[in-house]
Amino acid sequence: MNRQADVIIVGSGLAALQLAHHLHSTSHVIILTKTKIRQSNSYIAQGGIAAVIDKGDSIHSHVEDTLNAGRHHHFIEEVERLADEGAAAVKELIAGGLHIDRDADGQPSLGLEGAHSAKRIIHSGGDATGRHTVEHLLATLPENVEIIEGEMAYDCLLSEDRSLCIGVKTKSKEGVISYCWAPHVVIATGGAGAVYPATSNQPTMTGDGVAIAFRAGAEIADMEFVQFHPTLLFANGAAQGLISEAVRGAGAKLIDGSGSLLMEGVHPLKDLAPRHIAAYEIYKARTKGKEVFLDIRGMEHFEKQFPTITALCKRNGVSISDGLLPVAPGSHFLMGGISVDSNGCTTIPGLYAVGEAAHSGVHGANRLASNSLLEGIVYGRRLAAFINRRLPASQLPARVFYYDSQLPAESAGGFSKEELRNRTMKAAGIIRTPENLQSHVRYLEALGVREWIESGLDELEQEAIEKIYMSINSYLISRAALLRTESRGAHIRTDFMAEEVHWRGKRVIQTKDRINI
Ligand code: SIN
Repeated sequence: MNRQADVIIVGSGLAALQLAHHLHSTSHVIILTKTKIRQSNSYIAQGGIAAVIDKGDSIHSHVEDTLNAGRHHHFIEEVERLADEGAAAVKELIAGGLHIDRDADGQPSLGLEGAHSAKRIIHSGGDATGRHTVEHLLATLPENVEIIEGEMAYDCLLSEDRSLCIGVKTKSKEGVISYCWAPHVVIATGGAGAVYPATSNQPTMTGDGVAIAFRAGAEIADMEFVQFHPTLLFANGAAQGLISEAVRGAGAKLIDGSGSLLMEGVHPLKDLAPRHIAAYEIYKARTKGKEVFLDIRGMEHFEKQFPTITALCKRNGVSISDGLLPVAPGSHFLMGGISVDSNGCTTIPGLYAVGEAAHSGVHGANRLASNSLLEGIVYGRRLAAFINRRLPASQLPARVFYYDSQLPAESAGGFSKEELRNRTMKAAGIIRTPENLQSHVRYLEALGVREWIESGLDELEQEAIEKIYMSINSYLISRAALLRTESRGAHIRTDFMAEEVHWRGKRVIQTKDRINI
């Protein structure tokens, strides 16, 4: 099947919907999702949206907190714009009808989260901010936006010389291929949490956007920076879902099995230390065989304040009234991604990226809590303004690039997703050693990752394509982690435990042909 649109958005989270909202109402916009429109990471986001809307707060302070949490590895002007435009974008959403939680005086009730020096987290429905915000945007989606569910975008359509992106190919579960043509193609697929065994993400977050862009020839940056959230509910022998940092913001403490406070003497902010620090402490305690709990004893109105987490605990047989929630870290957010400029343009004309799939430089080496929904609404809006100025577009080139060879249908059959996840965790998890990274890179190369990058995927089913995309992400993460010989933010190397001044602000850039700093 052939489809034609002005703008194709791959992915259906907050950044995608915010972009769709702000695109010109005369443009034909298609949102493509491989699953269902509500099955995004944004939909299950608990914490909230960080924004300076309180008189006592300041943009300067939000910027400083962002830089400190991310270990000063940012594009500083982008952080300043994020904080500045963020406040306006949030107010616009509220004015457009988004219901946020308010205090008894009708003022926004602002939460506190790790590494924030002020209460600035706007939330909706307690711990259901993502769901409420997505539902609000879906309910008000303009008529020019068409939603196509159950089709996985798996490759960019490129001009014959591969200099221009002119659409995407999609594949349905039944294996039907469609060609979707558009002068503006936006990757908004979120991160790659499902490349790891324990994750707060939807299981479908297989790093598709990064893999699609990389295969098309786009530049990818900072892939070594993968954030592990400290507190996933750990029950029945596995991680079961997120327990928001807002719980610690509201007073919960991390303790070990003997009742000792885990974060005492570790960081001045204690339980509200930046995520990479809390995650590392929990990881260390658990590898010594200790259990770690969030102690919510003494917190009042927990069930009312955190209905989503309460339901999660109940589903998994964890008692709220006992007040001890068992936790373990799990992959949560990819700070790296597809290199974009401040408008969301990638290094390939016609191809854009927004939200977690993009590397906009606002998160540094470790994202500040609740800055991700903020990024989605700010950059979604900004990219729309950029594309609107380029509509309608001129004719697409007639001649298209085709791969010389197609991978056979049985490709990527020699391993399971589970095996790949465990291997990725061992090599490029919370703690990294050069030996483990090297051996993982060699393993992926022996599997065929280099060939997978350079061949067509038309013959493969969705499941095999996902495995290939996960392998590509795992490869990009591991190679970058091997090159960065320091520890910074979420990237911790046992052989270089400290930050190195000469690495600050230096990015590991990867394209199909090169990896360099
Ligand atoms: C959380 O609620 O702890 C996660 C929110 C975020 O990642 O910003």
